Amino acid sequence: MSFLLMICLAAAASGQLAGGNGGLLHIPSNESLAHCPSSCGDVDISYPFGIGPGCFRQGFELTCDTTTQPPTLFLGSSTSTDVIDTYAADLELDVSLIGFNITMAPGINTYIRSWEAPAKGFTIPNGSVLYVVGCGVGVHLLALDSNDTMGSCTTLCFKDPVDMMQANGTCDGIGCCKIDTMREVQGFRLRIVRQDGIVAVPSVKAFLTYYGSYEFRTEDLSSPWINGSNLLNTTIYGAIMDQPNCRSASKNKATYACSRNSQCVNADRGGYYCYCPDGNPNGIPYTQEGCTGETSIQTKGCRSFFYVELLPY
Ligand SMILES: *[C@@H]1O[C@H](CO)[C@@H](O)[C@H](O)[C@H]1NC(C)=O
Ligand SMILES: *[C@@H]1O[C@H](CO)[C@@H](O)[C@H](O)[C@H]1NC(C)=O
Ligand SMILES: *[C@@H]1O[C@H](CO)[C@@H](O)[C@H](O)[C@H]1NC(C)=O
Ligand SMILES: *[C@@H]1O[C@H](CO)[C@@H](O)[C@H](O)[C@H]1NC(C)=O
Ligand SMILES: *[C@@H]1O[C@H](CO)[C@@H](O)[C@H](O)[C@H]1NC(C)=O
Ligand SMILES: *[C@@H]1O[C@H](CO)[C@@H](O)[C@H](O)[C@H]1NC(C)=O
Ligand SMILES: *[C@@H]1O[C@H](CO)[C@@H](O)[C@H](O)[C@H]1NC(C)=O
Repeated sequence: MSFLLMICLAAAASGQLAGGNGGLLHIPSNESLAHCPSSCGDVDISYPFGIGPGCFRQGFELTCDTTTQPPTLFLGSSTSTDVIDTYAADLELDVSLIGFNITMAPGINTYIRSWEAPAKGFTIPNGSVLYVVGCGVGVHLLALDSNDTMGSCTTLCFKDPVDMMQANGTCDGIGCCKIDTMREVQGFRLRIVRQDGIVAVPSVKAFLTYYGSYEFRTEDLSSPWINGSNLLNTTIYGAIMDQPNCRSASKNKATYACSRNSQCVNADRGGYYCYCPDGNPNGIPYTQEGCTGETSIQTKGCRSFFYVELLPY
C-alpha cells in the first residue's frame, strides 16, 4: 500500500510543469490538489481557480484576504474587484457590482471613469448593459484598448416631479439611460459630459449589470446609491490564455488544459476553454478526474445572456 502511494507521488512530482507566476500548466490530479484551500470565507473554490502554490492554473490565482471580516477574495494581484462566487466549470466569477458614483463639481463638465478586468483573459459577457441614473448628462461608453465608441446615451430630467414620475419603471432617457455593450469586453472607459443649459443634478450613478436586471425608480436619482439588493452582481468569464486557440493548444499536450473526455472551445477574445460534454455538464474539465468523476458543483449556464446554445458539439 505504501509502495503504491510512493509511485503515485513520484509520478505526480516528475510530471510537474509550472507556469510563470507559479501557476500550473499541466492537468493536475484530484489528489495533487487535496492540500489546496477549498474556500475563502463562504466562497467555495475549485481548480483551475486556487489559492497558493500548486493550486491554480496559470492566470487563475485567487488571493484570500483574511484580515477582513468576512474574508475578501480577489483575482490575481488586483484588489480592485472582489470575487463573490466562483464557478470553475465555466471559468466564471461573480464580482461585486461594477459601478461609479460621480459627483459633478461646478465648472467641470467631463468625467472619465474606467474599469479593467482584474486579470488577462477575463471579460464581461455580451449582453451586459451600462445603466446611468442622473440628469443632464451625455454618456459615452468606449472600449478601453482602442477608445472606440461602443455606444452612447443621454439622460435628461423634468423640473416637475409629476412629469418625472412618468419615467418611473422605464430607462429611456428621462432620469436614466442605458447602453448595451453588444460584445464581450475586457475593459471600458466611460465619458460623462454635462449637457449645457439642462437641469442637472450633481450625482450621477453608472453601473454595469445584466440586461433587464435593473428597473429605474425616480427615487434612485436622489438616493446615495442604487438599492443593490435588486441588482445582480457582475459576472466575468476567463479563458485559458497560454495558447491563442484550441488548435495550437491541443498540439502541445504538456500544457493543454482540457482533460481527457473534455472538449475545447475557442474563446471570443483569444484563448480557449474546455467543457465536459453530455453526461456530465457540471464536471470540471481542468482536472484529470474532472469529466469522469461525480461532482455536485452547479454551473450557472452559458457565456452569453442571449444565446443558450453557444457551445458547438
Ligand atoms: C483613450 O483615452 C484616454 C483618456 O482620454 C487616454 O488617456 C488614452 O491614452 C486613450 N487610449 C488610446 C489607445 O487612444
Ligand atoms: C416607482 O415604481 C416602484 C415600483 O416599480 C414603486 O415602488 C415606487 O413607489 C414608484 N415611485 C414613485 C415615485 O411613484
Ligand atoms: C452580441 O449580442 C447581440 C445580441 O444578440 C448580437 O447581435 C451581437 O452580434 C453580439 N456581438 C458579438 C460580437 O457577438
Ligand atoms: C455617492 O455620492 C453622493 C454625493 O453625490 C454621496 O452622498 C453618497 O453617499 C455616495 N454614495 C456612495 C455609495 O458612496
Ligand atoms: C431595497 O429593495 C428591497 C427590495 O425591494 C427593499 O426591501 C429595501 O427596503 C430597499 N432598501 C432601500 C434602502 O431602499
Ligand atoms: C451581490 O453581492 C453582494 C455581496 O457583495 C451580496 O450581498 C448580494 O446579495 C449579491 N446580489 C445578488 C443579487 O446576488
Ligand atoms: C476530488 O477530491 C475531492 C476532495 O479533495 C473529493 O471531494 C472528490 O470526491 C474527489 N473527486 C474525485 C472524482 O475523485
